[in-house]
Amino acid sequence: MIPPKPASRIGRASLLRHILLFRKDILSANPAHLYRAWMAEYRTPFFRSYLCNDPALVRRVLQERPEDFPKSDRLREGLAPLLGQSVFVTNGALWRRQRRIIDPAFEGGRLREIFPAMHAAGAAAVARLGGEVEVEEAMSHAAADVIFRTLFSIPIEDTLASAVFAEFRAYQRTQPLLNPAALLPLPRWMPRLHRRRTRASAARIRALIARLTEERVAAMARGAAPDDLVTRILAARDPETGDRFTPAEMVDQVAIFFLAGHETSASALAWALYLLATHPEVQERVAAEAELLGDAPDVAAVGRLGLVRDVFRETLRLYPPVPMMVRESRCPETMRGRQVEPGAQIVLSPWHLHRHERLWERPDAFDPDRWRSAESRASAREAFMPFSAGPRVCTGAAFAMIEGPLILAMIARAFRIEPVAGPPPVPVAHLTVRSATGIRLRFTPRG
Ligand code: HEM
Repeated sequence: MIPPKPASRIGRASLLRHILLFRKDILSANPAHLYRAWMAEYRTPFFRSYLCNDPALVRRVLQERPEDFPKSDRLREGLAPLLGQSVFVTNGALWRRQRRIIDPAFEGGRLREIFPAMHAAGAAAVARLGGEVEVEEAMSHAAADVIFRTLFSIPIEDTLASAVFAEFRAYQRTQPLLNPAALLPLPRWMPRLHRRRTRASAARIRALIARLTEERVAAMARGAAPDDLVTRILAARDPETGDRFTPAEMVDQVAIFFLAGHETSASALAWALYLLATHPEVQERVAAEAELLGDAPDVAAVGRLGLVRDVFRETLRLYPPVPMMVRESRCPETMRGRQVEPGAQIVLSPWHLHRHERLWERPDAFDPDRWRSAESRASAREAFMPFSAGPRVCTGAAFAMIEGPLILAMIARAFRIEPVAGPPPVPVAHLTVRSATGIRLRFTPRG
């Protein structure tokens, strides 16, 4: 069975129809030939945009000359009410300083230390499951719990944590954050939907995060702070200047950790559960392997779950939570013989690369065992980038590659998972790749 893939756009579209389709859902707005093309150009009176599927171009933009393809000012302005000057939107010297302070907190040794908090969130998620469940909702809850426990040592049931979670959900309904279509450089006179509501929601989220951060700064001053990610980052000094983040700078970073860290993992986990439900033979193998975890695992135990990791990777290939990324060209470029002017949008699409017909064998099939073949490993080197690549690679990639397989294994060990009757889910790009109508599955305890 081929897992759900959105229908592609058929025929040509007028500029207006194109923009409307893009704003609704970028996955179905594109024509099918992008799954075979190396590059596509969009010309509008307002902007030029180039989607690059050629691995050499992707390497140029993300790895070889990332400084020449920064994130756009428009992206930063659009997200500033929520993210301020967070590492997700900055460029140049400021961005480099932020990564120097943040990156050590996400290195292997630190991840070992926060693993018990991740495991506790997994156990809480298992305890909440059973019967018929909408798993996108359930996995958002689980991933938000992981983030709060690892960042702030508090569970999602904490009053402030659950208020942040609720506000983010409200925010998300008004602004599809990681959807490049929402950031199309349209002229400023075009009406923007929900702007006032989005700003008010962003202000409430930041006020809540500021309270959590201030409490933590005070606890650190008293010598009573728990040793978690926030304490580590607030205490970390920039190795070049010796400076630390101010509490205000930390609010920006916490906002992006929460947002980038929970929506993405939740999306991947929900699709992974759907794929296991619809591939019972893989599910049984996963459940058997998950026994290796035991009841008090450590990080090394997750490392031994080879099949579970391959299921999670295969899910990230088929349903990359961040389906597309946008950069801006700073210099005149030649790309596959075309002249690309400064200011053009460069779109990198994990969605298309991961399903590219010239780069993968059976690109639309769910086959976790492919990850053991040399061909697929070669395809992956060219065309697998769920966490992006190069210096701006996701700071949470190693974190997510422990969290995802751990939670998947804990759930598969505890329950038999089946789809419920009804049409299959249709992937759409919201904040991350989600099903248009949710994903309902049945969880029966394995006993
Ligand atoms: C399956 C889970 C995840 C996926 C698929 C994912 C994917 C991505 C991608 C594709 C980017 C690059 C976006 C761009 O350049 O436009 C990114 C950036 C980022 N992610 Fe993740 N992410 C995941 C989990 C996490 C977690 C758990 C955290 C933190 C707790 C995190 C924090 C960040 C941050 C801070 C950035 C900005 C990095 C920079 O621009 O320097 N992510 N992520």
